[in-house]
Amino acid sequence: MSGVMTVSEKVHGSASAAQGAVAGNTGSRIGFENVSVAYGSLVVLESLNLTVNPGEIVALIGPSGSGKTTALRAVAGFVRPSAGRITIGDRDVTHLPPYERNIGMVVQNYALFPHMRVEENVAFGLRAKGASEDIIRARVPESLAMVGMAPYTKRYPRELSGGQQQRVAIARALAIRPQVLLLDEPLSALDAQIRRSMLDELAKLHRDLPNLTVLYVTHDQTEALTLANHIGIMRGGKLKAFGSAQSLFRHPPNRFAAEFLGRANLIPVTGLDGADGARAGVKFGAQALSAQNHHRLAKGSDCLLCVRPHDFKLQKGENDTNSLTGVVQSVQWQGDVHNITFEVAEQVLRMTSAPMSNPPEPGASITVHFNPADVTLVPEDKVDG
Ligand SMILES: Nc1ncnc2c1ncn2[C@@H]1O[C@H](COP(=O)(O)OP(=O)(O)OP(=O)(O)O)[C@@H](O)[C@H]1O
Ligand SMILES: [Mg+2]
Repeated sequence: MSGVMTVSEKVHGSASAAQGAVAGNTGSRIGFENVSVAYGSLVVLESLNLTVNPGEIVALIGPSGSGKTTALRAVAGFVRPSAGRITIGDRDVTHLPPYERNIGMVVQNYALFPHMRVEENVAFGLRAKGASEDIIRARVPESLAMVGMAPYTKRYPRELSGGQQQRVAIARALAIRPQVLLLDEPLSALDAQIRRSMLDELAKLHRDLPNLTVLYVTHDQTEALTLANHIGIMRGGKLKAFGSAQSLFRHPPNRFAAEFLGRANLIPVTGLDGADGARAGVKFGAQALSAQNHHRLAKGSDCLLCVRPHDFKLQKGENDTNSLTGVVQSVQWQGDVHNITFEVAEQVLRMTSAPMSNPPEPGASITVHFNPADVTLVPEDKVDG
């Protein structure tokens, strides 16, 4: 299978270089090999190693300034790495200009040309690549239909809502049938409800174009968890964690990943016993608890017990052999959930639950229960930078 993919990538790669828009819509692997980017003496991306497999969506998440956009721009060819190699399919594109990379890119603020109608905006990339009028006439409505904007060809961007403009921007990126699609916070300028429905549409778009390889930058973890096969978490120009969305959420490799993705409770624990990879007993103060030891932490090491807020329960279930007793600090009702913070041995912990008719009062004592299978141990490592 991978052999076939490589051959077709080669064919389409050379075809796209020679014929521009005529190339087929073949997904291609994106590879970062030890890629660093510096502005003057400031290194903003440090030895990034990352692979996005053909047809996959990888989300890069991380705080502001962590280097996400820089990584994307390096793939697009808008910034030049100071070290390392970038590949698309089997091609080393590190030193190719942007227009030879066969990439579609969508950024946060639409960047449509205001003086052009929708159809001209979508045709722009095709014209730049020298596509024939026949191809343009076919490709423009096809791309607009993919994002549900077929009826709007004659409008100007100012006559469209934010969500509609962003759909046109996506159609414009897809019109050249790119090998890879780069999305930089494409939904962040939209309000919450439209963002939700655009997210569903992006998921559908990827089902319709299963070969398209997508690198998706966001700082919204819901977008990342909803769309991505794999997630990379960036901090200070470095990739701090990488894995499938499920595994990063269920067993984060470090404190930063646990806090950034899903705001986990992290309880300092000691005295690991039976640390054989499956289940381990730990102590939180005098309290004995049990957890998954996915990362095979060595016996006797200090570490963190990672508990997601929704895994604490007030009612003890059959397998909830762990429990903690503390004092309620705050109770917040948010429509579909109750948020409760409580303090146990000077640790402030957070739980969420379905709305309760009789929530506990601040100052009351509560006991929470949780299942050892739902919680995991995270190394107490020095997360620098
Ligand atoms: N042209 C530039 N010249 C100098 N420094 C830059 C330039 N572009 C970006 N930087 C710096 O590089 C670092 C990474 O920026 P980048 O845009 O990649 O962050 P980001 O993770 O996309 O952040 P955000 O979530 O805010 O978009 C930042 O410290 C930024 O100030
Ligand atoms: Mg950015």
